[in-house]
Order: sequence, then structure tokens, then C-alpha cells
Amino acid sequence: MQNFDFYNPTKILFGEGKIETITEEIPDDAKVLMTYGGGSIKRNGIYEQVTEALVDFEVVEFGGIPPNPEYEVLLEALDVIKDENIDFILAVGGGSVIDGTKFLSAAALYDGNEPWELLSDPIRVEEGLPFGTVLTLPATASEMNSGAVVSREETKEKLAMGGPGLFPKFSVLDPTAVRTIPERQLANGITDAFTHVLEQYMTYPAGGHLQDRFAESIMQTLIELAPKIMEDPSDYEAASNFMWSCTMALNGLIQKGVPTDWAVHAMGHELTALYGIDHARTLAIIAPRHYEENFGHKKEKLAQYGERVWNITEGDTDTKATKAIEKTESFFHSLNIDTKLSDYTDDYEGTAQIIAERFKERGWTGLGEHKELGPDQVKTIVEKSY
Ligand code: NZQ
Ligand code: ZN
Repeated sequence: MQNFDFYNPTKILFGEGKIETITEEIPDDAKVLMTYGGGSIKRNGIYEQVTEALVDFEVVEFGGIPPNPEYEVLLEALDVIKDENIDFILAVGGGSVIDGTKFLSAAALYDGNEPWELLSDPIRVEEGLPFGTVLTLPATASEMNSGAVVSREETKEKLAMGGPGLFPKFSVLDPTAVRTIPERQLANGITDAFTHVLEQYMTYPAGGHLQDRFAESIMQTLIELAPKIMEDPSDYEAASNFMWSCTMALNGLIQKGVPTDWAVHAMGHELTALYGIDHARTLAIIAPRHYEENFGHKKEKLAQYGERVWNITEGDTDTKATKAIEKTESFFHSLNIDTKLSDYTDDYEGTAQIIAERFKERGWTGLGEHKELGPDQVKTIVEKSY
């Protein structure tokens, strides 16, 4: 096992009815900016619960943060923070609202030329304006990590940022929020969380036995609950396990002491930036081809995953590893997630070249757990994903 430091200060308030307890977590004299998305919280009662809880606070609202939070929209919210002297932000939504809020938290205290530098450089954020979250969509684990991803339509970019100053002070995880999530977003949430685990697991054996078992148990739990939650999102037990699995998949714990990959996300983000494809779906497009292309490096972990997660007991390492990739792709299909770029756009020719060039320009020439996945290989993987 590799050496590691582990720090995660986010307080989790888990369960039905927990929204009302946020009053104990926000400083009494805080002027609060409540951020949210396109209005789902106004249709499912979460908006009322939050505003009732905040009745004794001075609150300003900023709604309309779109999926794949858009830089220009966030700059409008930043003006509100400055004009209104906001000192606490409460994000109520999914990964996009929470990520947008993390950007705002950092940008509010940033004194460089323009806040985009937080993403383009990227700058490690040591301190941000304090914020909490009420999670409405299990998927990203943004509610318990210190990373964020922001999109910029003008340049068709989607970049990540973060730092130890960007952990939420607290996050409410109320599984009843899952009831109103549409099928497409449920499938996205399962796929995103599942791929987060893969990114931190599908590398090479590194003696992290407990980390491997944590990772495998999260994947097994997601596989088990997927049909239940797709069938009935108001199943509280399934929703609880769904929510906690997604959080645990990317709150930092399972990646400690082991190598991580993250190349699937790097390529996937480009597909969202270029074509607006849902984040999780871009991962399902890239992951199987990435594992095929890097089979030599990854086959031992692929085979272990095949055995332990998919019960593949027959055959040698290569056979088990191959079947494990097939099982993974079938799992995405079982959620009605297509795994070819051409299923999402007719305009895919040339995509691989564009992405490879972008990576070269950014100096991203050594991705993956061995830091040797270069633009040529990226091009091949994306081409195979057509
Ligand atoms: O905007 P509203 O009206 O709220 O509707 C949202 C949105 O349309 C809807 N929704 C959310 N909760 C709902 C609901 N609808 C009904 N009932 C509810 N309870 O779902 C739609 C999608 O929301 P969004 O927040 O965009 O989804 P998700 O949580 O999947 O977040 C995706 C974003 O997170 C980034 C992605 O790149 C993408 O931009 N990621 C963030 C990560 C992180 N911070 O650690 C890691 C991930 O890998 C990912 O990159
Ligand atoms: Zn993701």
C-alpha cells in the first residue's frame, strides 16, 4: 500500500427529515445565498423544506444553474455574492449546482485576473467562502469531496478545479429526494458512481486489500440496487443505499493508498464539452474501449473484478478480464445507456483528432495510473468509441 494522508471534514446529515437540521450548521448571523438549478426543487417540495428551515436567516436566492454548470451563469451569481455581501452559500441540487457553488466559493475570495484561471491553471484552492449542500441527486459525490467541474460554452471547454478549501461544511443526504428523479438521471447517477469506483480500482494490484474490498462492495451494491431503484425510486431502502454508495464512491476514501486512473473522465469531459452529452453517458462510451486498449496493464484487476463482482469463475486471467469488460458494458446497457458515440451524435468524425490535439495543447501527455497514456492512444480509444 502507498503512503497517504486522508482528510475529509464534511459533516454528513443522512436521512429523511434532516433538512430542517441545517439551521444548526449555518452561523446564526450569516447572510445566505441559496443556489439551485432549473426548478426541480420547486416541484418536489425540497424548496419549501429548505426555505422553511431558513426562515430566521437573511436569504438571497440564485436559481437557474444549468446541468454542466456554465461559467457565464456563475459569473452572474458571483456578482450577487459581492453586491449582497454574502457570507455563506447553500447549494440545493445535484452535482451541477454543488460544483457551481464550489466555483463561487473559490471565486468569491480569488484576487487574480479572472476567475477562469481557477480552472485553466488550475489553482489549488486553499480557502473558499463557506458553503453547505442539500443533495437532490446521487451521482457525483460532490457533496463530500473538494472537486468541481465547470463548463464554458464560449470555448467549448469543461475543466476541473478544487483544493482543500472546497469541502462542503455539511451535506444533507435525504433519500426521499430520489423519489422524483427521472429515469434518465437515475441511470446517469448509477453509471457515474460505478465509473468513479472503476477509475480508482481498475489499475494494477497495489496491495490495497481493504481499498479493493471497499471498491468491490460499492460496485456490488450499485449492481444489486440498480433494477430496484429504476423500477421504484420511492423505495426508501434502495434510495438510501443508492445515495450512500454514490457518496462513498468519490469522497476520497477508496482511492487512498492505491493508484488511480481518471483517463475515462478526462476523455468523457471532452465529449460533454463538444456535444453536450450527459456526463455519465460519456463515461459509458469511453470506459469499455479504454479497458480494451489498456488490457495489458489492467488485466489482473479486470480479472479480479470479474471474479469478485460478476462471479466469473471460468477461464484464465485474459478470459476473465475480457468477460469483465463485456459485463460492464452490458450493465450500462441494462440501464438504457448507449455505449457508442454515434448513438448520441452524427457529427462524430474527427472527434478523436480534436480531443488528442486538445490534450497535447494542454500538456496532458501522460494520463492514467502509469502516467503514460498519450494523445495517440487517446485518439485510438475515442476512435474505437465511435
Ligand atoms: O436543474 P434541476 O431543475 O434541479 O434538475 C436537475 C437536472 O436537470 C435534475 N434533478 C436533480 N435532482 C432532482 C432532479 N430532478 C428531479 N428530482 C430531483 N430530486 O437532474 C438534472 C441533472 O442534474 P445535475 O446536477 O447536472 O446532475 P449530476 O448530479 O449528475 O451532476 C453532473 C455534473 O457533475 C460533474 C459532471 O461533470 C457534471 O457537470 N461531476 C462532478 C464531480 C465532482 N464534483 O466530484 C465528479 C463527477 O465525475 C462529475 O464530473
Ligand atoms: Zn463522474
